[in-house]
Amino acid sequence: MPNAMITGWGKCVPPAVLTNSDLETVTDTSDDWITTRTGIKERRISHVEVSDLSAVAARRALAAAGLEPTDIDLIIMATCSPDRLIPSAGTMVQAKIGATNAAAMDLNAACSGFLFGLATADQMIRTGSMRRVLVIGAEKLSYWLDFTNRATSVLFGDGAGAVVLEAVEEDVGAPPGSGEPGRLGMGLGPHAREEGGVGAPPGSGKPGLLAFELGSDGTAGNLLCVPGTGTEGNPLETVAPSILMEGQDVFRRAVVAMGDSSARVIEKAGLTLEDVDLLIPHQANVRIIDATARRLALDPAQVYVNIASYGNTSAATIPIALTEALEEGRIQPGSTIVFAAFGGGFTWAAAVYRWGSRTTPLGVSDAELPPSDATALELLRPNLELHGRGV
Ligand SMILES: CC(C)(COP(=O)(O)OP(=O)(O)OC[C@H]1O[C@@H](n2cnc3c(N)ncnc32)[C@H](O)[C@@H]1OP(=O)(O)O)[C@@H](O)C(=O)NCCC(=O)NCCS
Repeated sequence: MPNAMITGWGKCVPPAVLTNSDLETVTDTSDDWITTRTGIKERRISHVEVSDLSAVAARRALAAAGLEPTDIDLIIMATCSPDRLIPSAGTMVQAKIGATNAAAMDLNAACSGFLFGLATADQMIRTGSMRRVLVIGAEKLSYWLDFTNRATSVLFGDGAGAVVLEAVEEDVGAPPGSGEPGRLGMGLGPHAREEGGVGAPPGSGKPGLLAFELGSDGTAGNLLCVPGTGTEGNPLETVAPSILMEGQDVFRRAVVAMGDSSARVIEKAGLTLEDVDLLIPHQANVRIIDATARRLALDPAQVYVNIASYGNTSAATIPIALTEALEEGRIQPGSTIVFAAFGGGFTWAAAVYRWGSRTTPLGVSDAELPPSDATALELLRPNLELHGRGV
């Protein structure tokens, strides 16, 4: 049975920065409140659509994997802010990057979407149905916000991240130092010859997804929702849909869901907390991340946090964080990484992933977004006018 390994990674964040000070000019908030209550200092506002952000992130991930778009069999696009409902954002990305041999679809599990996509891709590859899968997490949540509402507008931002997962046969790749890299130019790490996989025995060093858990509780859907955005919507309704949230309840559930599901997948992988090198959690609030790490008794140095720069980009937070963790040298050959997320639905997910031996990209893409000089506040002008406040 082939194993599924991440061989490419990339991100795309739009250039316009919306600072906490900018937000002070449009709603009753302060840099001090946002910083101390959430850990967010700034977020990005996109001048293009989700499929545009995704196409650039995807091209960068493909270059890092040393692949062409035509090499991809499947695109899983995790988003809750697609350009349109039909066609899916996944198929729009397929067209934009020229992945002519790929099937493409959207997956909506809100902020847990990327991990739902990662697990789906892993299973597709393990069963032999697919060889190379592109998983994208991307959002333009600024579209669904009322920027005059301080309860939600300070939390979210726009961005995209992508990974390429490839089937790796048990005998492909060679241990570092053997002088015989595998076809992908990446050895399988020091324990490549050991048996193992999902549910592998403790001590197995085989890279790939070692265990995952996906969960949902639809009875708590109203805690975080955007009413009126589907067939329930009234076309004569004049109120623009926007994100509604019960912040404190979501906070409490998030800490329990991320902490407990992380603990369960670590155990399911046959590992203990001592084996974890890095937790890459969904970036929704630094206090949620800290509380999750405390619940797991992890040292803060074992937790990756970049929320200050981007806020909550929903399905995009984990692939963006993974890309930056690699760029910053926070992931070593053979590192054991725990991913954890929660989001609207209510949904949650956790996964244990053991990295292979290559932590640097094979190539670099020259893909860029169309240039824009617009400031974040200029981009938000229609939103503020819609919600009754011009700038
Ligand atoms: C939203 C959240 C940051 C609010 O933080 P909190 O510490 O729970 O704050 P509270 O809601 O208790 O509000 C405290 C006070 O700050 C005020 N306040 C709320 N938002 C504010 C803002 N942006 N700026 C200034 N004051 C604000 C409240 O009105 C309240 O004032 P009061 O004491 O006079 O009534 C926090 O609950 C949270 O992060 N929840 C999870 C949200 C989330 O992760 N959503 C995405 C899921 S994927």
